[in-house]
Amino acid sequence: MHELIIDKQLDREEKYKQLIPQIQAVIEGESDWVANLANIAAMLKECFDFFWIGFYRRVGEELVLAPFQGPLACTRIRMNRGVCGYAATQQETVIVPNVEEFPGHIACSSLSKSEIVVPLIQDGRTVLVLDIDSSRLNDFNRVDAQYLEKIMELIKDIELK
Ligand code: SME
Repeated sequence: MHELIIDKQLDREEKYKQLIPQIQAVIEGESDWVANLANIAAMLKECFDFFWIGFYRRVGEELVLAPFQGPLACTRIRMNRGVCGYAATQQETVIVPNVEEFPGHIACSSLSKSEIVVPLIQDGRTVLVLDIDSSRLNDFNRVDAQYLEKIMELIKDIELK
């Protein structure tokens, strides 16, 4: 049994530093990808309370909704669509300070104002993206990118079946 322990007084970077070893502890020894992604989404949500946190898994030329925390979201995103598709295609983290200014942004909710998407690449192919939406404008920066990439590094060998 695990319980997330985060000091709510800390700034965001210090919270990431508390969070990451706890994510590692929860997923190590567990090989089920749904279970692990579900717990990662839950832990990120509990730590930061972003509006929407979740994963999309690559299936053919689409990204298909995987474990998430937050309101109802679109189920399938084509690889060339939206922020998720852009990050998946570029194979790099994408930060969007204002989603209304991103051409082709897919609005699952009008409450989402800024977004960060981090792809996971295996053998040169994007297999998964982590997508986080904030209800605040300009809520993500290089600190988020750096630590969210560390979280994706923890699952770099995940078997998505
Ligand atoms: N905004 C994303 C779509 C997914 S939702 O935000 C959960 C995009 O443009 O790819």
